[in-house]
Amino acid sequence: MKAVVVRPHVPGSLRLTELPDPVPGPREVLVRTLEVGICGTDADITAGQYGWAPPDREELVLGHESLGVVERVGIAVSSCAPGDLVVATVRRPDGCPNCRHGESDMCSWGRYRERGIKELDGFLAEHYVEVPEYLVVVPPALRPTAVLLEPLTIAVKAVFQAFKIQERLHWEPRRALVLGIGPVGLLGALLLRARGLEVTAYDRQDPAEPGPRLAQETGASYRHAEDADLVTTAPGPYDLILEATGFSPLDFQAVETLAPNGVLALLGVTGGDRRLQIPSDRLNQDLVLGNRVVFGSVNANRRYFERGVADLERFAALWPGLTERLITRRLSPAEFVAGESRREDHIKAVVEVSR
Ligand code: BGC
Repeated sequence: MKAVVVRPHVPGSLRLTELPDPVPGPREVLVRTLEVGICGTDADITAGQYGWAPPDREELVLGHESLGVVERVGIAVSSCAPGDLVVATVRRPDGCPNCRHGESDMCSWGRYRERGIKELDGFLAEHYVEVPEYLVVVPPALRPTAVLLEPLTIAVKAVFQAFKIQERLHWEPRRALVLGIGPVGLLGALLLRARGLEVTAYDRQDPAEPGPRLAQETGASYRHAEDADLVTTAPGPYDLILEATGFSPLDFQAVETLAPNGVLALLGVTGGDRRLQIPSDRLNQDLVLGNRVVFGSVNANRRYFERGVADLERFAALWPGLTERLITRRLSPAEFVAGESRREDHIKAVVEVSR
């Protein structure tokens, strides 16, 4: 079968290759890949800044945002059947207490593996094999948007965790800020609008670009990050902030726009080595005197994929046809390998593996 592989930490090593067809065991499912979404993590892996090949190999099959169709199931599988649309979760557990309780997204030993990212092949291949525990069946009506489920789960988890944390007090959040409206930020904005929050989106994109326009169609307001800093452009105060730019200096400015009792969720994975001088006394004072919370959130376990399916259905009912417009570029595997997804004029690029 055809597969897109990369040699982690070797820039420019992305290539299309042939691999043996995978064969499912009695407890496994054979999935034909339909689409794979490309995100910043894939760009980092391709640029040689992130990612790990399986222990005995030099190359990794890329791709962790997937949509596929079940082709064959092992004799012992009953939770899905040929023809079902499925999205696979990304992370696989180590033996830590959280992983053992189905919460590998909260892994405490750090020896987890991730398909297409860390030590396990991803989904950018014609077929893959998986056990049903890591496959979430999606209704046929979500065929146009289900490839966005994985990036959506990143926002679903962060918002769920924020509300969980805020059970520490009586909390009626009204105003939210989303920093960065790439796919995760935009999906986060949709999620918060669907919950009835007043949402401000902040990004460097020109207001006429598709992302800002989409955000505004859901009733969010848009602030263009030009020369002024965040505190001047979008002063808030905000009850809930999702940081999804991957530009770490913004984290500290964001604290200054938090309302008393507010909560800031950091979602950007930042592989660099940026340094910064910060007004530490003032930030500390704001956090302490305002009971403010800052937390990091990564990955998503199955529970968030199941919630995400319901959220995609909700988005379709609230804004018919809007979610699919996040997919602004469709590529063949060969076009992806040739670097076509790196053009800046899109929201989400998706590689079409089969139909
Ligand atoms: C993926 C997550 C993963 C994280 C860190 C993100 O792009 O969506 O599933 O946990 O990268 O590797």
